[in-house]
Amino acid sequence: MGYSVAVVGATGNVGREMLGILAERAFPAADVTALASRRSQGVEVSYGERTLKVKALEHFDFAGVDICLMSAGSAVSREWSPKIAAAGAVVIDNSSCWRYDSDVPLVVPEVNADAAAGFRKRGIIANPNCSTMQLVVALKPLHDRARIKRVVVATYQSVSGAGKDAMDELFSQTKAVFQIDEVAPKKFPKRIAFNVIPQIDVFMEDGYTREEWKMVVETKKILDPKIKLVATCVRVPVFIGHSEAVNIEFERPITAEEAREVLRGAPGCIVIDKREPGGYVTPYESAGEDATYISRIREDATVENGLAMWIVSDNLRKGAALNAIQIAECLIKRKLITAKRKAA
Ligand SMILES: NC(=O)c1ccc[n+]([C@@H]2O[C@H](COP(=O)([O-])OP(=O)(O)OC[C@H]3O[C@@H](n4cnc5c(N)ncnc54)[C@H](OP(=O)(O)O)[C@@H]3O)[C@@H](O)[C@H]2O)c1
Repeated sequence: MGYSVAVVGATGNVGREMLGILAERAFPAADVTALASRRSQGVEVSYGERTLKVKALEHFDFAGVDICLMSAGSAVSREWSPKIAAAGAVVIDNSSCWRYDSDVPLVVPEVNADAAAGFRKRGIIANPNCSTMQLVVALKPLHDRARIKRVVVATYQSVSGAGKDAMDELFSQTKAVFQIDEVAPKKFPKRIAFNVIPQIDVFMEDGYTREEWKMVVETKKILDPKIKLVATCVRVPVFIGHSEAVNIEFERPITAEEAREVLRGAPGCIVIDKREPGGYVTPYESAGEDATYISRIREDATVENGLAMWIVSDNLRKGAALNAIQIAECLIKRKLITAKRKAA
């Protein structure tokens, strides 16, 4: 006996990772259905050792589904999540569509697992943005120890955060550079190969981008509305793994050594901080891993009670797919959902 699980967006970067993680973690699934757009009907995707044939979302009946892992963008989620929830499944959504709705919990199990219980109002739980996710996993234990007042963060975000077409663009542009061909940006506003782009998502009236705004609003919703945060989000020519250079100001004193100790024992965190060449984690090494890695922890003497650090994680795993599955596991563990088939 287990849960009936549907993965919407199963042909995408995050959806494929979800199927892999469900199998890896031996998620208690009685059945798993892979769904995507009509374009992908019949395409085969891997679920552990098995292969699933993708079905079209628009023709699928959700009546028997317990958990829907949704990863097909905001427009699809806006239309489909309420219908899927009305059919009796809990929707765990990866898009930004529902994150700022006060009736939808925004959950990172290591940080605010208790909030998950609030899903009943709409039947939807939102997954935060990938750059917020790894940040709050590292901030939470430090906040508990010394109360965070203000955070300044610069992100170095991989192209996989913008979907599979964005990965193809980095690959084809890099090839074009070597072949001395023309490099034509399509998905990104400027060339991404051998370059960095200080814009992720659209510009807002105040000059910040929506990605930067998301980090502010989501950190407040998940961790503490009193935390002030300012972000600069940058796309870099890395395939998988987001990095963040972070400066934190605390209410109370905390040394780099204390922070290292706190983070070493914190859920989801691994500290690798050797203060020697290579004694830190880079995004390349984080790819395929579940943890949020913290390196380069040091005191920031330019402010009272300040620390600086480097935070890296796989944006497709903890930044998206893994977190969604951890939320589902949390609902099961806390008995917040029951399998329809079992209940029948
Ligand atoms: N990548 C990340 O690091 C990350 C992190 C956090 C959140 N997210 C969010 O997760 C979502 C998916 O991201 P991704 O990187 O996996 O994108 P992606 O690689 O571009 O994949 C998009 C998926 O959505 C499906 N889809 C598109 N239109 C559809 C429709 N009308 N009906 C059904 N399925 C449809 C696609 O199916 P077809 O192949 O059939 O087109 C594909 O499976 C986005 O909302 C993104 O913002 C991504």
